[in-house]
Amino acid sequence: MSEVIEVGVVGATGTVGQQFVRLLEGHPWFKLAWVAGSERSEGKRYEDAAPWRLATPMPDHARGMVVQAPVAGQGPRGIFSALDASVATEIEGALAEAGHLVVSNARNYRMEPDVPLLVPEVNAEHLALVARQAAARGWKGAIVTNPNCSTVFLAMALAPLRAFGLQSVTVTTMQAVSGAGYPGVASLDIVGNVVPFISGEEEKLESETKRILGVLTNGAVTPHPVVISAQTTRVPVLDGHTESVSATLEQKVDVGAVREALATFAGSPQRLGLPSAPDHPIVCLGEANRPQPRLDVERDGGMVVFVGRLRPCPVATVKFIALGHNTVRGAAGAAILNAELMKAEGFL
Ligand SMILES: NC(=O)c1ccc[n+]([C@@H]2O[C@H](COP(=O)([O-])OP(=O)(O)OC[C@H]3O[C@@H](n4cnc5c(N)ncnc54)[C@H](OP(=O)(O)O)[C@@H]3O)[C@@H](O)[C@H]2O)c1
Repeated sequence: MSEVIEVGVVGATGTVGQQFVRLLEGHPWFKLAWVAGSERSEGKRYEDAAPWRLATPMPDHARGMVVQAPVAGQGPRGIFSALDASVATEIEGALAEAGHLVVSNARNYRMEPDVPLLVPEVNAEHLALVARQAAARGWKGAIVTNPNCSTVFLAMALAPLRAFGLQSVTVTTMQAVSGAGYPGVASLDIVGNVVPFISGEEEKLESETKRILGVLTNGAVTPHPVVISAQTTRVPVLDGHTESVSATLEQKVDVGAVREALATFAGSPQRLGLPSAPDHPIVCLGEANRPQPRLDVERDGGMVVFVGRLRPCPVATVKFIALGHNTVRGAAGAAILNAELMKAEGFL
């Protein structure tokens, strides 16, 4: 893995795009060589086009990069996409058609039957779907997606529970404002408030999770039969989506067995030693008042899902609180882990 591959980021100026630029700095396999944005940013130096909002300084080598138009054929072969959904269908499709490997955060292609929707610890084998894209669409390249941010954390926390016969799940999310991009939710709507509706979010949590937990057979994914009922809320938190989860399991397992399954959960990224893979993708916290976004979300590079308050549920079988970093494990870090898997598996 000594060869360093040049990659690009389209949508590099936005909330997720900035996380890409931060996380790619010093990456052992990938070097940021191209940034692209809308007409608003095109032709500007990155430091002038991207109003930097991360706590760490903008990487020096990104500062002077000139933001390009996302023209197919002009950037490197591997391109991360943090594009707004309103433009992702057209731009990502044109890039893939022209031969780019697009590793996307946007929702547009996630549920297409020939597009992998990956959480590498859970369903790395779904990557094989990319082989269908050339035949079905005539693309010289391909699109691989990561899920909606809340879905990543739910799918990771539920994946080890499949062994106990996962039947049904209720989940209520408390989602950070950074999940809405920039400028996102108006301050007058969110300060001191909880907004009990995020457009399209509950549907994505329900459908994407079932697809990720599903099985790939004969080139198609059969979604997991688990029934999921989601409610999503926006809360005045900067980063970190918290989820209150109750799961009904076929087996009447005790909580200790569930905790053991969560704490020992690992997958392809850990086996392959991918650079962004945490040693333990799920970390169980024993303190009664954790996880909390402000105290836990930046731990372990933002790539871990923290599970706490695991206990029996008088309505379902078990209940717990999960927390993940929405712009890292839920977005840019997820896509970089997908690209690392693609590189390790010979796709990139
Ligand atoms: N925020 C999260 O936690 C999160 C998590 C998971 C997935 N996502 C998904 O990731 C994507 C980016 O989200 P975000 O929160 O980073 O949004 P954002 O802050 O609004 O950024 C949107 C980006 O899209 C670019 N863009 C818009 N129109 C364009 C065009 N016509 N051509 C080229 N670039 C264009 C913008 O470039 P300019 O600045 O140059 O206009 C900007 O870089 C979305 O699809 C979102 O649903 C976000």
